[in-house]
Amino acid sequence: MKIAIAGGTGTVGNHLTGIARERGHEVVVLSRSTGADLVSAAGLPAALDGVAAVIDVTGVQTQSSAKSRAFFGAVTRNLLDAERDAGVAHHLALGIVGSDLAPFGYYAGKVAQEERVEAGPVPWTILRATQFHEFAAQVFGQYRFGPFVLIPSMRSQPVAAREVAERLLELAVGEPQGRVRDLAGPEQHRMIDMVERYVARTGSSGRLVQIPVPGGFGRALRDGTLLPVGCHDEGAQTFGEWLEALLPLLNRAGPPTAPADSAARRRCSTRQTAGTPRARSQAGSGRCTPVGR
Ligand SMILES: NC(=O)c1ccc[n+]([C@@H]2O[C@H](COP(=O)([O-])OP(=O)(O)OC[C@H]3O[C@@H](n4cnc5c(N)ncnc54)[C@H](OP(=O)(O)O)[C@@H]3O)[C@@H](O)[C@H]2O)c1
Repeated sequence: MKIAIAGGTGTVGNHLTGIARERGHEVVVLSRSTGADLVSAAGLPAALDGVAAVIDVTGVQTQSSAKSRAFFGAVTRNLLDAERDAGVAHHLALGIVGSDLAPFGYYAGKVAQEERVEAGPVPWTILRATQFHEFAAQVFGQYRFGPFVLIPSMRSQPVAAREVAERLLELAVGEPQGRVRDLAGPEQHRMIDMVERYVARTGSSGRLVQIPVPGGFGRALRDGTLLPVGCHDEGAQTFGEWLEALLPLLNRAGPPTAPADSAARRRCSTRQTAGTPRARSQAGSGRCTPVGR
């Protein structure tokens, strides 16, 4: 099958591209580094010739609502227009668990992306995932003041980016499904604990200081709004296993991997999270079909 991966050079996109090629799919990678700027749409229609499914895992580094909405709005519009013209049968997007309930600039763009996909001309599937294990490394690098590194007070149920990629590919080879169950990792953690373990494992330096982020977004980080609710899928690889795999892979250059059979061990959990808001507009809260995978 010919699959286009928008953002195929990023954290999850890199896994996705590798797994799809390993499984014999023809892959077209759309990213600026491969010559496709999806904000301007230059060269896009030709790139989709013969493509059966487009998986959008693009991202932008911003906390600004305006910038995030502009990025995801333009990328999604340009992709969907080109897909319609090229006769692409399936568009897939990767969202973030709880993004519609947490007032954060970046998430505003993610919600706008989902709305555009739902209203668009191409049959679609949207998967939402929790933070990747890599998030601990990203947070560690973000707010450094001299020897101090600020870590937001936050709860997360991180998932292996590779398992997110496996799930996206599984969805891409099937029929469009609309919203599907959220995907999270197997364990919940405090972000400060994840970063402490990451620092210890990698021998990085810095004095970690946990801070409560002010306002509604800070509350959402702390109160479990970003955790999955109700029936959702859970990946197999724990944060600890990801850390274990990290050093040899860092030394060899390449992303840490989840066990090869991890998708087969994904399970449906109906565990409820204490203190998590119940009112959700996402599919993960309402549907509960045992998966038996
Ligand atoms: N990270 C997480 O914890 C997490 C969790 C759940 C969901 N998500 C969502 O998953 C998606 C992927 O996240 P990620 O962390 O894998 O992202 P990432 O590592 O930041 O990768 C972003 C990708 O987008 C491409 N890109 C950026 N601007 C582009 C443009 N103008 N035109 C074409 N390609 C462009 C980048 O390639 P170039 O730079 O070469 O253009 C890169 O391949 C995001 O939408 C994110 O919201 C992330």
